[in-house]
Amino acid sequence: MKKLLIAIVMLASSPAFASGGNIHLDHADVDITDQASLQRGAKYFVNYCLNCHSMKYERWQRMLEFDIPEDLLKQNLMPSNAKPGDLMTTAMNPDDAANWFGAPPPDLTLEARLRGDDWIYTYLRSFYIDESRPFGVNNIIFDKVGMPHVLWELQGMQKAIFEEHKDDSGHESHVFKGFEMVKPGKMSTEEYDQMALDLTNFFSYMGDPSKLKRHSLGIKVLLFLLVFFIFAYLLKKEYWKDVH
Ligand code: HEC
Repeated sequence: MKKLLIAIVMLASSPAFASGGNIHLDHADVDITDQASLQRGAKYFVNYCLNCHSMKYERWQRMLEFDIPEDLLKQNLMPSNAKPGDLMTTAMNPDDAANWFGAPPPDLTLEARLRGDDWIYTYLRSFYIDESRPFGVNNIIFDKVGMPHVLWELQGMQKAIFEEHKDDSGHESHVFKGFEMVKPGKMSTEEYDQMALDLTNFFSYMGDPSKLKRHSLGIKVLLFLLVFFIFAYLLKKEYWKDVH
């Protein structure tokens, strides 16, 4: 009984974990039917993330579903020795990575299912300067994160503004107020937000690649049941018409 209660409490509290406590998450307007955005997301992932993060529960050929021609997939996105049916692994050794970053970069295949789209979108836009950290950055929704801000040249470097709050018992706390750009990057804020959205879109698709098929099949099944119901009803009327 106790175990059951603990399980229920854990299930009930998991969305709170996913949303990172009381920090506000920005809404990611993902659209997994947007092929251009998925193509850009795939390109960014391969160029900027795959050095450290694998996506090893998916195969390269999954990206053909974004309308990327196979020769372009092979030339531009896949490692030269890989086949389209190979899994998207990374060359980085997890033990080395754990030594370098304090934590190994997790596999990101199911990241959108684990954390949610809004969390990823907010995370990618929430790195800020913090000299006390090994790579000089921290993250508002992932305190003491081991990941360096790999996109800083594009986004720029921002600092976080905190406000001191004292409650009645004299307990002090920092409340996050917003970011201030210190060193602008190559992209404008809108361009960088679009990039974060494209990456989020990509994770959302890869985490649940059959979603579109499932939805279209679901609608067909419901339509079938509706039509079937009409015939079933007419048949029932026919069978019972003499009984009353
Ligand atoms: C230099 C290596 C490196 C690169 C490149 C890198 N990351 Fe990371 N990333 C890490 C490490 C290390 C962690 C684990 C941080 C921790 O647990 O403290 C991490 C964590 C994450 C997490 C949080 C995982 C979780 O749920 O705990 C996300 C999301 C993420 N990275 C996304 C990205 C994306 C998107 C890119 C490409 C734009 C990227 N990373 C590029 C090293 C890297």
